[in-house]
Amino acid sequence: MSESGLTSGDFTEENEPFALFASWLRDAEKSEPNDPTAVALATVDDHGMPNVRMVLLKGFDEHGFVFYTNFESQKGREVLGQKKAAMCFHWKSLRRQVRLRGEVGVVSDAEADAYYASRPRGSRIGAWASKQSRPLEGRFALEKAVAEYTAKYAIGEIPRPPYWSGFRIKPISIEFWHDRQFRLHDRVEFRRAVADGPWEKVRMYP
Ligand SMILES: Cc1cc2nc3c(=O)[nH]c(=O)nc-3n(C[C@H](O)[C@H](O)[C@H](O)COP(=O)(O)O)c2cc1C
Repeated sequence: MSESGLTSGDFTEENEPFALFASWLRDAEKSEPNDPTAVALATVDDHGMPNVRMVLLKGFDEHGFVFYTNFESQKGREVLGQKKAAMCFHWKSLRRQVRLRGEVGVVSDAEADAYYASRPRGSRIGAWASKQSRPLEGRFALEKAVAEYTAKYAIGEIPRPPYWSGFRIKPISIEFWHDRQFRLHDRVEFRRAVADGPWEKVRMYP
């Protein structure tokens, strides 16, 4: 990795995707007005119909890319059903894109507990109150549920709901894209046959 932390170096020379991703995320944290960790998450339902929505990346390392959600939500059911997902980051201020895909595992209970405990109290109550992705008859029903759980957990720790946890995408492909003049963008894909296997690096036409 270049001493500059890759910010000004030629990223196509890099040979390790996680360090490169870390460097690009650090750059995004400096230049994106909000949510540099916001990422489009693509899933597929039981009929092969794709689906996409934003989530927040809550961790990553050589084992994969982690996000948290309600496992009974639409995305939760789709990920649990297909055990595959894809992500696409777009940092507009940097004119950079990173996409990745792979098989998905569930984070450990200890990891989910630690992250859940770090969330603001209101978010922990919200995880109990929201039947994410299911029909809501009106805003009042949600506010009532929030009031009920606020009263229920008025004192002491708020336990993590059994249906709320994290998924880890273990990438078999990570592609880095950087805008260049005349649409002659730089594009490099790191691919491997199996998660935890060695990476093959491929430069691609834009
Ligand atoms: C910037 C942004 C970040 C979001 N982060 C999350 C997240 O980390 N987890 C989550 O469950 N929903 C998150 N959401 C809401 C989802 O996009 C989505 O509306 C919700 O999870 C229901 O999706 P589903 O019905 O496909 O399961 C976020 C939305 C936005 C716009």
